[in-house]
Amino acid sequence: MQSALRKALSEIHKSQIMKCRALYAKRLAKLTNHKFKIMFNSEVYKSRREALKSLLKEGVAVFMGNVDSPMNYPGNTLHFRQDSSFLYFFGLDMPGLVGIIDFNEGKDYIFGDDIDIDDIIWMGPQPSMKENAAKVGVENTLPVKDLSGFIEKARISGRKIHFLPLYRGETKISFQEFSGIGIADQPKNLSVELIKAVVSLRNIKDNFEIEELEKAAAIGYLMHVTSMKMAKPGILEREIAGTIEGIALAHGAMTSFPVILSQNGETLHNHDHSQILQKGRLMVTDAGAETMMHYASDFTRTIPVGGKFSQKQKEIYQIVLNANNTATAAIKPGVTYQSIHLLAAKVIATGLKEIGLMTGNVDEAVKAGAHAMFFPHGLGHMLGLDVHDMESLGENYVGYDEEVTRIQQFGTAYLRLGRRLQPGFVLTNEPGIYFIPALINLWKNEGKFKEFINYNKVEEYIGFGGIRLEDNILVTDNGCRLIGKRIPISVEEIEETMTD
Ligand code: GLY
Repeated sequence: MQSALRKALSEIHKSQIMKCRALYAKRLAKLTNHKFKIMFNSEVYKSRREALKSLLKEGVAVFMGNVDSPMNYPGNTLHFRQDSSFLYFFGLDMPGLVGIIDFNEGKDYIFGDDIDIDDIIWMGPQPSMKENAAKVGVENTLPVKDLSGFIEKARISGRKIHFLPLYRGETKISFQEFSGIGIADQPKNLSVELIKAVVSLRNIKDNFEIEELEKAAAIGYLMHVTSMKMAKPGILEREIAGTIEGIALAHGAMTSFPVILSQNGETLHNHDHSQILQKGRLMVTDAGAETMMHYASDFTRTIPVGGKFSQKQKEIYQIVLNANNTATAAIKPGVTYQSIHLLAAKVIATGLKEIGLMTGNVDEAVKAGAHAMFFPHGLGHMLGLDVHDMESLGENYVGYDEEVTRIQQFGTAYLRLGRRLQPGFVLTNEPGIYFIPALINLWKNEGKFKEFINYNKVEEYIGFGGIRLEDNILVTDNGCRLIGKRIPISVEEIEETMTD
């Protein structure tokens, strides 16, 4: 692109971002004014550990904190992200720590090393381990070298060593070194008891956690409105992706997952940001932020490049929006999220039938799974300290239980959350419709669901892209509410936001 044009566009962006900032700065300031607050008070962590002690009575639970990981050489590390269960019970956002809860003796420990003079020279003075541990109400601190002796003693006295699934190479190796449980044996020695207990606590969000989630949502709002305002023909996708990632870094800790932003929205998680925006195409932005305490937001909006939806785009958009709104209206304690996923699928199949893309009986089509050619993923997942909350502990423990098990059918099988909802759950509601050429061709060639899918008409939509609309929801005592102010979502709101 000619440099004069690029310069002009860049000036327009700057002024749009400034306008957007000015509009939302007040709200953002209100919600993120504790931006230097990086942990709750010590009572929060103490009471979480006490709650765990009331669920497990025997053994020793080991919570592995994360360590720094090299990026391209040992001294140049990836951005540090603490393990979320460690953060939940032990709150300290720094590498190289292990938290222990001894259920038999009712005691808590943090194993970690005080820094030495070299560290002080490079990082400045730091609190001692004792001081750090006191911030989360832990009195007992020991150096890391004492960990294997501690575990050995517990084992000799016949006590169970409880630990959660380990997902990082470095952690698996160090756990092997101090526990003697080899990497290959770790999965079969996990403590399902501990997993279930942790899930039961982390699944229900306290009010102070919801405040953090509101802050994450406020940052997400600014990211998405900025994305809408920047989506002019001629701009590179990565200019927008980079700008909104910067917003997450400037107002919180980081993005809650790598930004998904693409005109090829039919690819569900598209991290390729190399295209130049073209007038008339749809652009999907799926992005969120983590607060300084690592609570996450996760929103998706789909917008027309250039600011105006075509009639064909509006028709599909409205079906997805109806699915989103219908799901939100149905979310309340006592209903299963699996049933809400299927309700959204029916709204999608009904809408597609009305415009001739599907045929036949909607209930039968959804039961058979025909809608999944257009909606091949789940309606949502838990949200909290992880964007897919606690996914490392096992999706089936978090999103399912003895009562509600995963449906093993293409599309619905990807539903991460199916269980019966309870007040305090925070989840995403993210229906979508996609025209995925490879899937359409595959199913058409197989003659799959030809009683429900009008393939001739569907082929007219090859190149359409995809639409996903995602909100974050808190289940309340008698219904639900959105987390954060709703990001513009109706056709009119989107078009207005893109033009002002
Ligand atoms: N929104 C990104 C994800 O759910 O993985």
